[in-house]
Amino acid sequence: MADRYILLVHGPNLNRLGVRKPEVYGQRTLADVVELVRSTALPFGFDVIDRQSNHEGDLIDFLQQYGSGAHGIIINPGAFGHYSYALRDCLEDIDRPTVEVHISNVHRREPFRHQLVLSDVVTGQIVGLGLEGYRLATLALCQPKP
Ligand code: DQA
Repeated sequence: MADRYILLVHGPNLNRLGVRKPEVYGQRTLADVVELVRSTALPFGFDVIDRQSNHEGDLIDFLQQYGSGAHGIIINPGAFGHYSYALRDCLEDIDRPTVEVHISNVHRREPFRHQLVLSDVVTGQIVGLGLEGYRLATLALCQPKP
């Protein structure tokens, strides 16, 4: 199945989507996000393998296991995106097309959220567009390049 799947990776607290701060993150759940990515990738012939973890090492183990065989990676690292150099180094090592998504516009929030340490190892970033960011990330990875 090499190259015919998209990895969808979520970091800490994103299992609480729909419950945690709905005024910031909306009412939709993580299951809704997975379904959105799956249904967007399917017409292009891509399956989705997804993982959410509250533990940095779990995410790195998962990326090391499935990352190099993936067509592309969509990652919402949650707060790890602001400080996890371990996750950054892991993505650099895997070296696959990767889109980092943040549901909220982190640049309009607390200063500690303005730093995104994965920036120089990801292909692109989408912030502040809610769940639409995941749909756009999926299209960016799955659509044939012009
Ligand atoms: C988030 C933004 C992060 O700052 C925060 O820690 C999250 C969610 C987002 O999707 O907007 O957990 O990644």
